[in-house]
Formats: sequence, C-alpha cells, structure tokens
Amino acid sequence: MRIDIISVVPDILTSPFDVSILKRAIEKGLVEIHIHNLRDYVTDNYKQIDDYQFGGGAGMVMMIEPIDKCISGLKTERNYDEIIYMTPDGKTLNQKTANTLSLKENIIILCGHYKGVDQRVRDHFITREISIGDYVLSGGELAAAVLCDTVIRLIPGVLGNETSALTDSFQDDLLAPPVYTRPAEYKGWKVPEILTSGNFPKIEAWREEQSYQRTKELRPDLLDED
Ligand code: ADE
Repeated sequence: MRIDIISVVPDILTSPFDVSILKRAIEKGLVEIHIHNLRDYVTDNYKQIDDYQFGGGAGMVMMIEPIDKCISGLKTERNYDEIIYMTPDGKTLNQKTANTLSLKENIIILCGHYKGVDQRVRDHFITREISIGDYVLSGGELAAAVLCDTVIRLIPGVLGNETSALTDSFQDDLLAPPVYTRPAEYKGWKVPEILTSGNFPKIEAWREEQSYQRTKELRPDLLDED
C-alpha cells in the first residue's frame, strides 16, 4: 500500500511513522508513506496557501490551486483508489472503514487547516471525507496519523500475530474481553481462574461472554446496530 499525505505542517507527521509498528511496516516494505508539503506546490513568492473567504466571515480558507497541483501531479503517476479529506464534518471513522481502506493500493490523504478547504476541492477531487470524532483539532494531521495507524495495522504481515488484529475491539462489533498476564496474583488481586485452567474451549466461551457483557455495559449502541 502507498499513502500520500498532503499537509501544510508536515513536521507533525514525522514521529508517528518513525517508531514502533508503523516504522516496522515501512521497513518491511508493507506500506510506503509519502508526505507532501503543500507550500512546495505554490507558485507565488509569498508561498500563500490560504486566503480570505468570499462573502466575508472569520477564518482563512485553503486555496484550490496548490491542492490541485499536488493531487493532479500524483494522479499522473499512478491511479488512486481514494482521495480522503480529514475534516470534523466528515463521516466518523470506525473499524469497518479501516478494514475497507486496508485493502486499497494507493490512497491520498489531504489534511485540512484553518476554516477548511475551498469547497471545489471537496466537490472535484475528494472521494471520502473522514472525521475522527466530534471535536475540532487544529488541523487534519493528527487525524490523518490516527487513520493511517488504524489502517496500516490491518495490512497482513504488519502485526506479528495476525490474529491479534482480528480479535481487536470492534472487529466483530464487540469490545475486546479483559486480558491478564503474570503474576497470576498481585497484592491479593487474582486473575480469573478459568484463564489458568488450560481448558481452551471454556476459555474461549468465557472470553465471548466477557466481550458481550462489556459491550452491553459500556457500548450498548454497538449491539443495536444491524
Ligand atoms: N480536522 C480537525 N478536526 C478534525 C477531526 N475531528 N477529524 C478529522 N479531521 C479534523
């Protein structure tokens, strides 16, 4: 998979891809990340990427021309399956969307800033608009990093034990069951006995029940969805 990220503050995107699982995924050649500084696509000397909005009103708007230059340039080099705009008024990211995107070959992610982008960018270039939650960030970069993390970890081979992504919370619309590790007793707090019983069918049944109970208690809305 190849992901091109377009940003006006590309420095924010350095560290998420420079450590841990995402770094290893890049090193293994399972994903390529290309970060593009939108200012490199501006022709005027002031490197202006935003301007006042037509009709008045507070806040600057990201101009269409540099975005067009960047996206159109990329599109001449390869086909893109999705051109995603990170914005608080997009569709809220969930596991299903992450699963879908993890199967794609080439993706562009555009990070919004200020009041957002000129609507014509959304109308003519963007195939999908994604929000990471009902709150407003200073820009789309952190949201893009969240999206990349949740998608990349699903690419086969990225996680050591592939089944561990399949048993994540939300993967089957249920929250994950509780997990424990050594010691089996700490300050008198014991691990549930079933987990040390060695009876794997019973352990599996216990986990399923815990998942269901947890979901019912903490996220009953997940059980209502079709
Ligand atoms: N940009 C600003 N806030 C955002 C959010 N909540 N999700 C995605 N992009 C954003």
